[in-house]
Amino acid sequence: MNNIIIAIDGYSSTGKGTFAVEIARRLGILYLDSGALYRTVTLYALRNGEIEWNGEIHDRMLQEDLLLGKVDISVAANPDGSMRVFLGGDDVSGKIRELEVARNVSAIATLPFVRNFVDEQLHRLGAKGCVMDGRDIGTAVFPNADLKIFMTADARIRAQRRVLQMEAAGQHPDFEAILRNVQERDYIDSHRAMNPLRKADDAIELDNSHMTVEEQMVWLDGILRERFNLSIL
Ligand code: DC
Repeated sequence: MNNIIIAIDGYSSTGKGTFAVEIARRLGILYLDSGALYRTVTLYALRNGEIEWNGEIHDRMLQEDLLLGKVDISVAANPDGSMRVFLGGDDVSGKIRELEVARNVSAIATLPFVRNFVDEQLHRLGAKGCVMDGRDIGTAVFPNADLKIFMTADARIRAQRRVLQMEAAGQHPDFEAILRNVQERDYIDSHRAMNPLRKADDAIELDNSHMTVEEQMVWLDGILRERFNLSIL
């Protein structure tokens, strides 16, 4: 059953990526990180002077570039199941994790033409089966997904996770600044007009504040066995 579509939504830094990558690796299916595509569009806009220092976006310029096909995004799978993303052939998987991108990505992701662009890419890449994570996968991108999971975790725990990730990447983040960024993004993601973050009616909620990845796998294994006769343990 490798054409299964699993949709994972939730707040930022709830560990959706880690969870989804591990599922992809164990089931041998493609992992698609929709947030990485929003981040890549944001990086493109930053590189091309389409976002001012004060956060103002030149949205007509960006819309035109998307329409003209100038924002050339492709992806590849790593052996561990994670996803690499390329902008115009340039591997930007590391660049899109920097704070400058994080600061601007929620605003970019509120633009309807950006959402339509990313949705098209996701359909193109994932239609044949995938595990995909984001904010609106189960509600808007793949409303007929075979399985929908909605992830939550305490904001301070999420900020701490992000700090550890950035430190591992050689950066020196300030905890309070990261916590503010997490809270601001929660607000923007769940209050935007188009496809805001919300739990789909048929999604199963997973609060992983105090769960290890392996405990989450055990939790999911129970569901996969019951519904699809699949196991990931
Ligand atoms: O998951 P992430 O932190 O990489 O997501 C980056 C931003 O993209 C986040 O602020 C919300 C937005 N996003 C979205 O609006 N819809 C998605 N399906 C995925 C991400």
